[in-house]
Amino acid sequence: MPPSTNATVSTRPATPADLPAINAIYADAVLHTVSTWDYEPMDMARREAWFAAHEREGLPVFVAVTEAGTVLGWSALNQYNHRPGYRFTVENSVYVGEPHQGRGLGRRLLAALIEAARELGMHSIVAAIDGENEASVRLHRAFGFEPAGRVREAGFKFDRWLDVVYLQLLL
Ligand SMILES: CC(C)(COP(=O)(O)OP(=O)(O)OC[C@H]1O[C@@H](n2cnc3c(N)ncnc32)[C@H](O)[C@@H]1OP(=O)(O)O)[C@@H](O)C(=O)NCCC(=O)NCCS
Repeated sequence: MPPSTNATVSTRPATPADLPAINAIYADAVLHTVSTWDYEPMDMARREAWFAAHEREGLPVFVAVTEAGTVLGWSALNQYNHRPGYRFTVENSVYVGEPHQGRGLGRRLLAALIEAARELGMHSIVAAIDGENEASVRLHRAFGFEPAGRVREAGFKFDRWLDVVYLQLLL
């Protein structure tokens, strides 16, 4: 399929039918990039449990889809920390399929998350980003996320140490 243009893509809440596509996009990032420090793709049972937990906790998952219904990317708000004092802070995830990156889908998916976080009455969103992931840092900076620290060599993947940078948006 050729790369999409914005005109043909919309963003909507995910449904269980979207989970295989969400999982495939994530698996590609796991296997080929350091954007996530998972080593193995998720199996569908784990992805279904992940989605059920989001529904239970009222945390949104969005997909960017073509008019034909093909999922090109997804985003989610995740619990930041289970302790009750952290309940007004969430962490976010944004993944756009590799052939469709750089066409504004990340922007749409992150905008949907920020709006949802406001509607949920959240106070802040934290993004934990691989220190080399310039695209993600720039995407988040464009929405007003500000640097909130760097933990050096917190991760190890593909035989090397990786820094994590934290960006935060106060809502
Ligand atoms: C990071 C990611 C979500 C950005 O989504 P995208 O659809 O590719 O980005 P967009 O087209 O919406 O661009 C939004 C902004 O991101 C930045 N950006 C996007 N691609 C970039 C690249 N290759 N290099 C540098 N900056 C980039 C730019 O600031 C851009 O704004 P601009 O076009 O006005 O300059 C996407 O590339 C992706 O899914 N990457 C792999 C997974 C990942 O890294 N997820 C985030 C984990 S923290």
